[in-house]
Amino acid sequence: MRLDDLLFSQGFGTRRVCAGLIERGLVNVGGQPCTDPGAFMDIADPGFAFAVQGVTWPYRERAYLMLHKPAGTECSHRPGAWPSIYTLLPAPLRQRPAPGKVQGVQAVGRLDQDTTGLLLLSDDGAFIHRMNSPRRHVPKVYEVTTKHPLDERQLERLRAGVVLDDDPRPVRAAAAEPVSDTHLRLTLTEGKYHQVKRMVAAVGNRVDALHRSRIGALDLPGDLAPGQWRWLDEGDLALLAAPPA
Ligand code: URA
Repeated sequence: MRLDDLLFSQGFGTRRVCAGLIERGLVNVGGQPCTDPGAFMDIADPGFAFAVQGVTWPYRERAYLMLHKPAGTECSHRPGAWPSIYTLLPAPLRQRPAPGKVQGVQAVGRLDQDTTGLLLLSDDGAFIHRMNSPRRHVPKVYEVTTKHPLDERQLERLRAGVVLDDDPRPVRAAAAEPVSDTHLRLTLTEGKYHQVKRMVAAVGNRVDALHRSRIGALDLPGDLAPGQWRWLDEGDLALLAAPPA
């Protein structure tokens, strides 16, 4: 692949901008500046790396990321009252091109403004669809802080199923484990609007704080601070592809 095509594919701007970065000596390949936009890049070489303005990037045909969503951010490109989660990502990830349009990575589902925790993002439409599909039942684990102490009846009702206002079919928690009096670990396999908050309200309690700790078999790493992101590696993707336990 040509170097200018490579930068374009990774979200560094229009082809003209990418050629300009290269010609001005701002792009290094294998530790050396490369000023030829047409230089051939062997992206199949496992040691291949490039740097733009001093920042090293891996080549990724498709981008798969995790973000530790902080509170007070919206999962929208056009947020209303809070900053967008997309402002937490570097520009190339937001600009990665899709055929025919500039698309960037998209969140896999949404978390509420005040919810924290594990959020996946990708520019692979099939992956986003797979992870969101209700038919695949990808389990999502939420750490719920409740306003009132939990009781066994509430837990039983969450497991047995509660009816929400937009659907007569009951929604069930795949698991509802009390961690403490006011800490509930809830596993859901669907993704309805405000589902955790509405389910907890339906059993007569209230959510004070909500954090997503796990998707499929992938945990939010303890060393990923709120607001930080990282690439998903092969191992992470295998954990997401694993069938529900
Ligand atoms: N359920 C909710 O109520 N809010 C979220 O952000 C996620 C799940």
